[in-house]
Amino acid sequence: MKATALAHPNIAFIKYWGNLDENLHIPANGSISLCLEGLTTRTSVLFDPSLEHDHLTLDGQSMQGEPLVRVSAFLDHVRRLARMNIYAQVNSGNNFPSGAGIASSASAFAALALAATSALGFELSEPALSSLARLGSGSACRSIPSGFVEWLPGTCHADSYAISIAPPCHWDLVDCIAIVDRSHKHTGSARGMALAHTSPLQAERIKTAPGRLDRCRQAILKHDFDAFADVVEEDSDLMHAVMRTSTPPLAYMQPATHRIVAAVRNWRKEGHAVCTTVDAGPNVHILCLADEQTFVQTRLKETPGVNEVLTAKPGSGACLAV
Ligand code: PMV
Repeated sequence: MKATALAHPNIAFIKYWGNLDENLHIPANGSISLCLEGLTTRTSVLFDPSLEHDHLTLDGQSMQGEPLVRVSAFLDHVRRLARMNIYAQVNSGNNFPSGAGIASSASAFAALALAATSALGFELSEPALSSLARLGSGSACRSIPSGFVEWLPGTCHADSYAISIAPPCHWDLVDCIAIVDRSHKHTGSARGMALAHTSPLQAERIKTAPGRLDRCRQAILKHDFDAFADVVEEDSDLMHAVMRTSTPPLAYMQPATHRIVAAVRNWRKEGHAVCTTVDAGPNVHILCLADEQTFVQTRLKETPGVNEVLTAKPGSGACLAV
């Protein structure tokens, strides 16, 4: 009744922001992302009949409150699936600095979904495992398949899951993550995206998302960096426009975020294959072709406001570990 799983976070090229069903995390639009190699969550789950409630340790620290409640609520889905009522000891750790502003909920719930179902002897299909991970955190469904991934939004639990559209080796992209602020987000993504419908721009963003998904998918499949850069920056800008025009307004970007985004646009004008995307936080993901990585790292180190740069290549999906 024990299993261990590994999963990577993912960076969205076409963003998920807003739900049709907030409890089930059925998204208002599809999204496309990349799993990030090297940044890893490792989670082991032991179902133990002697436990009186679920236990969670995160990076060696025993957790109570909201993180434990979230993990326990997720394990309830797994227990319902298995028609049993045994509590679990969950030990989870990230090899990337927690609180560095790298969203870890995607890799956390992807690893937990795989470890918990395997501990109970289930072998779910990839779509079923992706749907299950989605219940913990929407974007976690995109950390189950490998490489370049598309979340098919669907309309109900069973048909809202992610699939791989190309393996990690398909395209030599690198994500250079410029850390400008390590503090926790003021408004978590779940609370933030619950406001999306209050923005007059959200309906238009949703209506035009299929076109951007097509452009992004085609750009990836054809290795067309210019087309990729245009649609990725457009989609990130649209999500932040929705955030800023929500009631109450949300501003995740900081002055350093804007400075880096503007600098990268200039580097592209100079002929470099680089572009940016920003999630629900101030850090900037600079996506580039592998042969631009040294240039990007050097220039980022000279850019005021950048505290640290993490890099990640295309990564695999969730897998079992020993
Ligand atoms: O899955 P959540 O609740 O962490 O939401 C993710 C939201 C964004 O990171 C801003 C966008 C995305 O598609 O990953």
